[in-house]
Amino acid sequence: MKLKHHFCVAPMLEWTDRHERYLLRLISKHALLYTEMVTTGALIHGDIDRHLRFNAEEHPVALQLGGSDPRDMALCAKIAEDYGYDEVNINVGCPSDRVQHGAFGACLMAQAELVAENIAAMKKSVAIPVTVKNRIAIDEMPEYETLHNFLQRVSQAGCHTFIIHARKAWLKGLSPKQNRDVPPLNYELVYQMKREFPQLEIIINGGIKTLEECQQHLKQVDGVMMGREVYHNPFVMSHVDKLLYGDKEITQVSEIEVLEKYIEYMQSQLDQGVFLKHMSRHLLGLFAGKPGAKAWRRHISENAYKSGAGIEVIQQAVKYIDNK
Ligand SMILES: Cc1cc2nc3c(=O)[nH]c(=O)nc-3n(C[C@H](O)[C@H](O)[C@H](O)COP(=O)(O)O)c2cc1C
Repeated sequence: MKLKHHFCVAPMLEWTDRHERYLLRLISKHALLYTEMVTTGALIHGDIDRHLRFNAEEHPVALQLGGSDPRDMALCAKIAEDYGYDEVNINVGCPSDRVQHGAFGACLMAQAELVAENIAAMKKSVAIPVTVKNRIAIDEMPEYETLHNFLQRVSQAGCHTFIIHARKAWLKGLSPKQNRDVPPLNYELVYQMKREFPQLEIIINGGIKTLEECQQHLKQVDGVMMGREVYHNPFVMSHVDKLLYGDKEITQVSEIEVLEKYIEYMQSQLDQGVFLKHMSRHLLGLFAGKPGAKAWRRHISENAYKSGAGIEVIQQAVKYIDNK
């Protein structure tokens, strides 16, 4: 199956876990969903199933890997493929200290050669697509030259798809959170890369908040990736299938229909011993902007963590929403 990257949901640590992805899939059939980053160390030395298990309904779903040792990355890509993931993606964007210490994430923007070696090794070990999510540069490095050189070298090794978070990362002085807001966005440079490498699939990421903005970007590049806005307001993607994938057959779902299906899912997970709070936290933004949304959020936040909490917490919370 050829994966379609028109609309992707960003990998977000602690946020895009399997429960969140299940919820998002109820809203869009076609969006390509990314997991949280999983490090090669966690997979090779840790509990593989805990890190990799996902629901069959989540397809198409991509695993994001953090690492830079070609042998480890090739091994982990194979594990991901055997697990049923549709794509593996390399993290070349995460600026956190812990990650810098392990020599992967955004610091790899200065090591295009090493990323190329990883791509070559991974492509040898799997048949699913191997993609990269990167920044435009780091620290004092010049934006155009760094990004151009990176795309050229890494694509020569066989990478066809690049997701570009359209800002630099400052590895010294800014926190990971500041690194998602402070360095200015440079969408124009990403557009320019698509013009200079027309054969590559270029996905743009960073600061995108509406489907109208997505449509504007899609005039210049092949796909868009949204992160925080989708998490805080998942219904922003309710028209993705129709507007961005051209699926005319799609029947539009409402927030309440999505909630009913997610309740069924939560019940089956509760029966398997999963705590309500791990699933209900993803629901806080479901009614974003609707009257009663604040009381809905408050009720869930104040009650879902209690021991023995079940579906009744959600059923009570939804009573606060007017105009369901
Ligand atoms: C809570 C959180 C966790 C994140 N974790 C990851 C991650 O694991 N891997 C990654 O490549 N990017 C990560 N990011 C960055 C996002 O994937 C994305 O590039 C960034 O938020 C910009 O897109 P946005 O403005 O649409 O949110 C994370 C962002 C947030 C807010």
